[in-house]
Amino acid sequence: MNKEEKKSGCITNISCAFIKVNVEGTVKMLKEIQLCLCVIFLFAFGIFYELYQDPGCISCKPISKYFLTPKDVMSQGKSIIFLETTEKLQPPPLVLCSVESAARMYLDRPIIFFMKGLDKSSVTNYKSSCPSLSFLYAMKNVFLFPLQLDILFQDTPLLPWYLQVNTTQEKNWAYVLSDAIRLAMVWKYGGIYMDTDVISIRSIPVTNFLAAQSSQFSSNGILGFQQHHWFLWDCMEDFVQNYNGDIWGNQGPFLITRVLKRLCNLTDFEDREDQNCHNISFLNPQRFYPIPYGLWTKYYEVWDSRPEFNDSYALHLWNYMNQDQKKNVTIGSNTLVENLFRTYCPTTYRSLIQAVEKSEQMFQNETS
Ligand SMILES: *[C@@H]1O[C@H](CO)[C@@H](O)[C@H](O)[C@H]1NC(C)=O
Ligand SMILES: *[C@@H]1O[C@H](CO)[C@@H](O)[C@H](O)[C@H]1NC(C)=O
Ligand SMILES: *[C@@H]1O[C@H](CO)[C@@H](O)[C@H](O)[C@H]1NC(C)=O
Ligand SMILES: *[C@@H]1O[C@H](CO)[C@@H](O)[C@H](O)[C@H]1NC(C)=O
Ligand SMILES: *[C@@H]1O[C@H](CO)[C@@H](O)[C@H](O)[C@H]1NC(C)=O
Repeated sequence: MNKEEKKSGCITNISCAFIKVNVEGTVKMLKEIQLCLCVIFLFAFGIFYELYQDPGCISCKPISKYFLTPKDVMSQGKSIIFLETTEKLQPPPLVLCSVESAARMYLDRPIIFFMKGLDKSSVTNYKSSCPSLSFLYAMKNVFLFPLQLDILFQDTPLLPWYLQVNTTQEKNWAYVLSDAIRLAMVWKYGGIYMDTDVISIRSIPVTNFLAAQSSQFSSNGILGFQQHHWFLWDCMEDFVQNYNGDIWGNQGPFLITRVLKRLCNLTDFEDREDQNCHNISFLNPQRFYPIPYGLWTKYYEVWDSRPEFNDSYALHLWNYMNQDQKKNVTIGSNTLVENLFRTYCPTTYRSLIQAVEKSEQMFQNETS
């Protein structure tokens, strides 16, 4: 830690100032000492404030965050949780936008991005290997942690399943694993889980909620609960009892819907209203899915007038549907997704512009 502080030069400034002011202070009157202490305090406070704000001083910043464990950060039960269950360490722009938009929307909550590819050692090294991650980490409420599954599943109904599942036989392993993790994570710590293709546009005003994808059907792409909520425990039990990894979604949206329907008779949504089932808000499809999955390409089209999404808290972009077409954000295209990036994740958007400028420069250099 000391090494890092010295290298940056940020902390040494404080100690110099401290000694100087302090020496002067001690030879004068008591009153002046008091004044001095005030100055020192303000000065130190100012420097720490600088440290926290100055984006050029990234090496100083993780010091405070580096020693925090998921438990420390998530103990308040207010976390926003994102997952990357593959080894990938270079998140695509949509993932960065998703995390950035949440970080901007929920300034008073920790935003936790769990990545399987991050082991303890690479947390300190990612700055050079993954520049996009260091931009996320530089946001003061964003935390990156490695995924430790054996610890996560401990004390949950999922542990026996996890210990005996033969992953080589699982057709949908990445999805099934991700379905399991979100249940355990939100049950253990409380908070909101979001898929990494969700762009936050308003803060969600309820604590215990499920997101309807359509009438009488719940998604699991976004869900929120207080810590140790019985509904998630029921879901984890159902996960193990009715396990079938061959059917896509059986452990995901179908599971949530099944458990919810056991509790309450769901009715069709008539308009923009939400439903309530044992104090769990079953949120109207408009809240997160104003564009239903059949129309997902609308996000990549130019609209005559910009939609306001007044009834939505966040927008799910259905990236699952985008595996073949690989649609992306193209700068200057004026597509809906470009406008969403510009508004809700300006830093990600700026980095896309810079990438375009860089490649244009290279092109010019090559041709001239
Ligand atoms: C897992 O399944 C594979 C393929 O069917 C098999 O070769 C392997 O022995 C199994 N592993 C265990 C631990 O059962
Ligand atoms: C749902 O409705 C049916 C018939 O109207 C009723 O028998 C059943 O008890 C209800 N279930 C719940 C969970 O309310
Ligand atoms: C729902 O919440 C309200 C207010 O928090 C509480 O008074 C009520 O008992 C709860 N109902 C159930 C079924 O948990
Ligand atoms: C959406 O909200 C804005 C700002 O509150 C308002 O001006 C606009 O009329 C609303 N649009 C619709 C379609 O209700
Ligand atoms: C984005 O999509 C456009 C149009 O399909 C394509 O020309 C471009 O190469 C893509 N850009 C990236 C970075 O994948």
